[in-house]
Amino acid sequence: MYQYKLHQQINQLCTFHKLDIAGSDSAFYIRLIANAAALQELYWSIYGSLPAGELKFAELLGLLVKTHQERAASLKSRDLQKEKEGVWFLSNQLTGMSLYVDRFCGNLSNLPGKLDYLQGLGVNFLHLMPVFESPAGESDGGYAVSDFRKVDPRFGTLADLKTVQQRMQQQEMYLMTDIVLNHTSHRHEWAQKAKAGDKTYQDYFYMYNDRAVPDLFDETMPEIFPESAPGNFTFVPECNKWVMTVFHNYQWDLNYTNPAVFVAMLDTIFFYANLGVDILRIDAPAFIWKQLGTTCQNLPQAHQLLRLIKQCVHIAAPGMALLGEAIVAPKEIMKYFGTDAFTAKECDVAYNATQMALQWDALATGDTRVMLAAQQELQQKPFGTTWINYTRCHDDIGLGYDDSMIAAAGYNAYQHRKFLKDYYSGNHPLSDAAGALFSVNPKTQDARISGTLASLCGLEKALELQNNAAIDMAIARILLMQAQSMFLGGIPMLFYGDELGYTNDYSYLNDPGKSYDNRWMHRPVMDWSKAEKREEEGSVESRIFSATQRMIQIRKQLSVLSDLKNCTWLNPHNIHVAGFLRAYNDERVYCLFNFNRKASFITWHAFKEHGRVPVALYDYWSGKTYKVGPDHEYLVLEPYQFCILEPER
Ligand code: GLC
Repeated sequence: MYQYKLHQQINQLCTFHKLDIAGSDSAFYIRLIANAAALQELYWSIYGSLPAGELKFAELLGLLVKTHQERAASLKSRDLQKEKEGVWFLSNQLTGMSLYVDRFCGNLSNLPGKLDYLQGLGVNFLHLMPVFESPAGESDGGYAVSDFRKVDPRFGTLADLKTVQQRMQQQEMYLMTDIVLNHTSHRHEWAQKAKAGDKTYQDYFYMYNDRAVPDLFDETMPEIFPESAPGNFTFVPECNKWVMTVFHNYQWDLNYTNPAVFVAMLDTIFFYANLGVDILRIDAPAFIWKQLGTTCQNLPQAHQLLRLIKQCVHIAAPGMALLGEAIVAPKEIMKYFGTDAFTAKECDVAYNATQMALQWDALATGDTRVMLAAQQELQQKPFGTTWINYTRCHDDIGLGYDDSMIAAAGYNAYQHRKFLKDYYSGNHPLSDAAGALFSVNPKTQDARISGTLASLCGLEKALELQNNAAIDMAIARILLMQAQSMFLGGIPMLFYGDELGYTNDYSYLNDPGKSYDNRWMHRPVMDWSKAEKREEEGSVESRIFSATQRMIQIRKQLSVLSDLKNCTWLNPHNIHVAGFLRAYNDERVYCLFNFNRKASFITWHAFKEHGRVPVALYDYWSGKTYKVGPDHEYLVLEPYQFCILEPER
């Protein structure tokens, strides 16, 4: 819609900053004008009623221009290239890895030297866990940031980070970093000023003189870390006030009802955009809006803020995609892709946390029905958006899918979750997993699960027992889990160390800055002599590394594995086997995963229910070709076997 006043304001701004709107700045100008009305409407829906609102909106427009002007020419041409590719992050060519720089290779200056290792594996997209300044001993793995623009000296300098980005860009790799939007460290300058009594900065946080309002909030807000950080508020003796701290007591929640907070954090987002970040991981977006009487999670205003961020980024740094790290209920995760008029206009990418947890569910039970029951929901993801598919990350595994999905498979939700928790914490007679319960809530008995991929799949115990059959079984499970994440559709994201079968590291227990948080057991310190063993044929490292590498190669070979909303789940002919068909134009690939510790049988009819009936199927994984038989004959899948089957032409 044409808006005279707003468009005049933009024109004046562009003239003031000497933009060449008919020449080199024309694409930016068009994006700005085309989206201005939506931008203003979104902003107004949140801050319209505030006296400072208008002033801050002018500041926001200024930020867009400044970001565009400061954006390096190389990044602008990369933006253009991505635009031409269409939705670049849907591609089957992308494979990611998430890593802690210090634990992976010491510091940022060592990272360029490790890019060959990563590329050798097939990884071309890196999520660097937070490297900005965060106080040692109270850093939450870097998610308690005390300076959003200063690289923590233990990782190196900003110049080192820029070098990493440039080297990655030269090697055609993509970079993801975090913006910790919900909170700052209590040692951040804003928090320090608030402690010292500065009212302007006290308004950056949720601060109260007494427990009256905090008590009201606590009535409806769940606890995130009930064991290590119970409650949602912390007393600040320096200023005699209570401050909201949803996560740890050293992480102060930012108050986004204050437009100054929004504009300051948007400025930080643009700082990262202009460093050359390809995907920005928005940490904990579900929490960014608080309202009394609610859980303070997934509120409509949180979505409005994310849409506003998306519009701003689209205008000033269009090549940067946004990942919303919303680890919430399946229906709620889906909303982070945007709804109604904003469908596919909020976060471009989200973690497929539901699918991840369901794979762990199927691995423990050998039954894929709960996973299947969830697909109706997961398939709602809009075209043009994608998942991060993963089996493990730096966080715990939450069994956050719906009770109704468990009930659809005929289980009692409480008993079922109890079984899974017992199974993965090694407290079940049938289990060879070596994990631990994380954040047990004594009131609800809720808990999540910690442990590395390998330990949860049984490798730790199998190695201890030096039991070759058990080692084989654990490796088969590891590969099954990785394969499903790899072929499902979305960007597969490995967690460093899993490509070599790292088991749990219990040394965190000796570090008082970490011992209260057992997620550190699955955050290994890389031992590069162990990595060398990937060259020793037959070693555990070599078996896992080379298989992971081969999966990535197969994925890159088949463009039908791009996320084009082209996944159809097969009918469940055998409850132990999950299967789906990836199809696009003439290309078709059936992917099947046997979650059973025994062989499973699938009628050939399973391949006759979705259009053209194949005569024979070639399995990219085993290299075998199968003739499709009559319905009363079967494809036999060995324990934990998977296959990637293409109809022969
Ligand atoms: C995200 C991070 C997690 C962290 C939390 C608080 O969920 O993944 O590691 O503890 O945010 O910042």
